[in-house]
Parts: sequence; C-alpha cells; structure tokens
Amino acid sequence: MRKALVAGNWKMHGRITQNINLIDDLVKQLSPIKESVSVLVCPPLVYLNQVSGLLAEAGIEVGAQDVSRFEKDGAHTGDCSAEMLADIGVSYALVGHSERRSEHQDTDAVIALKLKNLLQVGIKPILCIGESLEQREEGTFEKVIADQISNAFSGLSVEELSNVILAYEPIWAIGTGKTASPDQAQAVHAYIRQMLASDYGSEFSEKVTILYGGSVKAANADQLFSQPDIDGGLIGGAALVSEEFTAICRAAATSPKNG
Ligand code: 13P
Repeated sequence: MRKALVAGNWKMHGRITQNINLIDDLVKQLSPIKESVSVLVCPPLVYLNQVSGLLAEAGIEVGAQDVSRFEKDGAHTGDCSAEMLADIGVSYALVGHSERRSEHQDTDAVIALKLKNLLQVGIKPILCIGESLEQREEGTFEKVIADQISNAFSGLSVEELSNVILAYEPIWAIGTGKTASPDQAQAVHAYIRQMLASDYGSEFSEKVTILYGGSVKAANADQLFSQPDIDGGLIGGAALVSEEFTAICRAAATSPKNG
C-alpha cells in the first residue's frame, strides 16, 4: 500500500517570524496524525535551514523547490546543487514545477539533469507534470504528460527511479481556484500509472506515489484523496494557512484507502 503524502509548496512566501508561527502551529496540529500521513514542507531556499531547525524531531520533512542542473561545484552564480541540499539534510525536492518551466525556461532536458542530480545524492525528486488549458481543450494532454515523464526519466533505470514521486498539476488549476474534478484527476492518474506500467513495469507503477496539485483545499481534499490512484497532494496557497493545510493532511490520513 502506498502511504499518503501531503507536500506544501510555499513558493515565494515566508519571513522568519511568519515561518516560526506557521511551523509552530503545524507541529502542534499535525502531531496526532503524523503516523498515518507523510508531511513535507518546501519553503524558499533561503529559509530551508531555518525550517529544518524548527522541524527537528517533529516528524515533518523538509524539501527544496528546485535544484541546479549543474552537478558539481563551480562558477554557477545563484545556483544551489543537489549535494548542497543533501548537505543540510533536505530529503525531497520539487523539479519541473510549471512555474519553473514557464518563468525559467526549464526544458525537459534541463529537468532530466536536475532529476538525475537529486537521485545521485539520495534526495527524492517530486517531478511535476501537467498540461495547459489549451492542451487539455485540444485533447493532447495525455501525450503531453507522457512525454514530460519519459523525457525526464530518460537514461535512468527502474532501480534508479525507485525514489521518484510524481505530482500531476494541471496548469489551469494552479492558483486559479479551479480544481480538476476528482474524476478528471483520477483519470489522469490512472493514465499515468498505466503508461508507467507499460514502460517501466507494473511493480514500479504500483509503487510510485502520484500526488495531485492545483487548488487543493480542505473543502475538496477528501474527495480527491479518496480516488484510487491519488496518493496525496502538492499544495500551494492552502499550505500557508495552518488550519487549511492541517485539514488537507487529515483528509489524506483518514482516506478510506488508508484502511
Ligand atoms: P495552488 O494550490 O495554490 O493552486 O498551487 C498548486 C501548486 O502549484 C503546488 O505546487
């Protein structure tokens, strides 16, 4: 059985005092459910160390929002390598978020390098994939998603990919308040699992965690997480509000799928 995972992507939000208050609330509120759901927060790079310190022994993991495509130390101003993230104890990192793809020209080839760098140092990559509204409307979205996955995975063996997590985030649902319906999201998750089974084998496809992201809130989390192929969520705006985020984590923890 796949354990539910809820990841909060803080994007470019947070300040020292705000972070202390949010983490303080989360640690208290999540403590009764932390056995039933894995919880991860991804603050901006500059606050990773602060948040790791605040979360020490709280049973909540810390992740980065991105990583450098360059593997080794060097003249790469502004970059942060996977080795540096591992050095400060980061256990997960997002890669290929649609905001990185659109605002920083992260192509599939760049994303493949980032994914490989993370895997090499033992950080679990959360590969974000998803179609635009135009691609959904013209019906090419399944191919778009399959290509994003196979391009990112290219050259890696099933063993090497065993720590990868996927996050389906339709671009039209991110920050828009327009969530994919549970049926729409489930259909894409099932498609992804089927595509992975045929390309990488059913053992891999059954084991891989696939999150849904895009306007997940306390009000829609139950329905989304009760879908058979949705293993949790990647949460943006609602991750900044402790009561909302906790309620979303609770929905994952109490999903009928968790027994
Ligand atoms: P929202 O939950 O704000 O729609 O953001 C989703 C997202 O992009 C998480 O990575």
